[in-house]
Amino acid sequence: MRRVIQFSTGNVGRHSLQAIIGRPDLELVGVHASGPDKIGRDASELCGLDTPTGVIATDDVDALVGLGADCVVYTSRGETRPMEAIDQMTKFLSAGTNVVATSMVWLVAPRYADEWLLGPMQKACEAGDSSLYVNGIDPGFSGDTLVHSAVSLTTRVDSIFVQEIFDYGNYDDAEFTGVSMGFGMTPDDETPLAFLPGVIMSMWGGQVRSLAGNLGIELDEVRERSERWYTKERIDCTMMTVEPGGMAAVRFATEGVRDGVPVITLEHVTRLTNAAAPEWEYPPDGHTGVHRVIVEGEPRVEINTHVSHPLLDSTDAGCISTAGRVVNAIDWVCNAPKGLISVDDIPQSATMRGLMWTSP
Ligand SMILES: NC(=O)c1ccc[n+]([C@@H]2O[C@H](COP(=O)([O-])OP(=O)(O)OC[C@H]3O[C@@H](n4cnc5c(N)ncnc54)[C@H](OP(=O)(O)O)[C@@H]3O)[C@@H](O)[C@H]2O)c1
Repeated sequence: MRRVIQFSTGNVGRHSLQAIIGRPDLELVGVHASGPDKIGRDASELCGLDTPTGVIATDDVDALVGLGADCVVYTSRGETRPMEAIDQMTKFLSAGTNVVATSMVWLVAPRYADEWLLGPMQKACEAGDSSLYVNGIDPGFSGDTLVHSAVSLTTRVDSIFVQEIFDYGNYDDAEFTGVSMGFGMTPDDETPLAFLPGVIMSMWGGQVRSLAGNLGIELDEVRERSERWYTKERIDCTMMTVEPGGMAAVRFATEGVRDGVPVITLEHVTRLTNAAAPEWEYPPDGHTGVHRVIVEGEPRVEINTHVSHPLLDSTDAGCISTAGRVVNAIDWVCNAPKGLISVDDIPQSATMRGLMWTSP
C-alpha cells in the first residue's frame, strides 16, 4: 500500500484524487488546496465523491511534507508560476517523498530539459534519494508511448507525424488556456503567451529531440510554426464568447528537420466549436478529438486515439487520461532509482498493475 498526497484539485487533480481514493493499493494521506473555498473541506467533496475520507485539504505544504508519504501527485498549475512550483516540488523530493506530476510539462522529456529546471530537481532527488516523473496525454502519451507503439509495427521509418485535433469549446478554462492561447483576441492585440517565439518549442521540442534520440538520428534543427484563424461570426461556447474578428482556432507545430524536411512533427489543431476553421482537418468519424500518429514507412501505420466518457466532456476525459499517466506510475516510481524518470525508463506493462479495481 503506497501512502499518497494529492496536490491540488483542478481539472486534472480532481480525477487523480478520485483514483487515489478509489484504488485499493493506494492510501490517501493528504490533500493540498490553494483556493480558500477548498481549504478545510474533505477530499471526497473536492472530487465529487460522497463518502468522506477524513482527509482534510490544507495549504500547509510543510505539514504535508512532514507526513513522510511515499509519493505526491502534483497537478497544481506550474507553468505560470514555475519558481513557486519548483520550490514546492523540491521540498517533497528533498524530504524523500517521490513526485509524479502533470505540471511542469517541460520535464516530459527530462533528458532534453533546461538546466534552470533540471538543476534544482536533480539536487533535490539526490538529497532525498527520491524520484520525479512528469507525463500527461499531450505533451506525453501522444509524443511518446503512442509513437513507440506505431513504430514497433514497422521495419523502416521515413517520418513521424503526431497530431492532436481538439475542440476546446467545452473546456471551462478561459482564464489560463483561453488567455495563453489568445482565443477571442484580434490580430491587433499583443501576441498571446503561447505564440511568443520559442514557447511552442519549449513545450514540445523535448519530445521531438527525444524521438530523434530513440531513432538514433541527428536533426539539423528543431523549429516551430503557428497560424491563427479569426472568425467572421460570433462563436458561443463554454470556454468563452468570441466576437467577430476574434481568434477561434489555432494550428501550431514543432518540427524536427533532417536534410531540409520535417521528419518528426508534433502538430496541434485547436478550435472552439466545429464552426471554427472549417478548412482545417477535423477528427475522424464525428469524434470531438483525436490523438493520432501517422508513421510513413514500411508499412504506413496510423493510430487514432479517442478518449471519451459516458457522462463527461471529452476534454474532461483527456484530463482523466492525463491523471492516469502519472497515477498509474506511482508504484514503479516509488521503487525507481533516485533522479528524474523518463517514460523510456518505465516498462509500460508495469503501469497496468492495480488498474482493474472496483469501487467498494
Ligand atoms: N501533458 C498533458 O497532457 C496535460 C494535460 C492537462 C494539464 N496538464 C498540466 O497539468 C497541470 C494542471 O492542469 P489543470 O488543467 O488541472 O490546471 P488548473 O485546473 O487550471 O489548475 C490546477 C490547480 O492549480 C492551482 N493553481 C492555479 N493557479 C494557482 C496559483 N496562481 N497559485 C497556486 N495554485 C494555483 C489550483 O489549485 P487548487 O485546486 O488547490 O486551488 C488549481 O486548481 C498544468 O500544469 C497543466 O499544464 C498537462
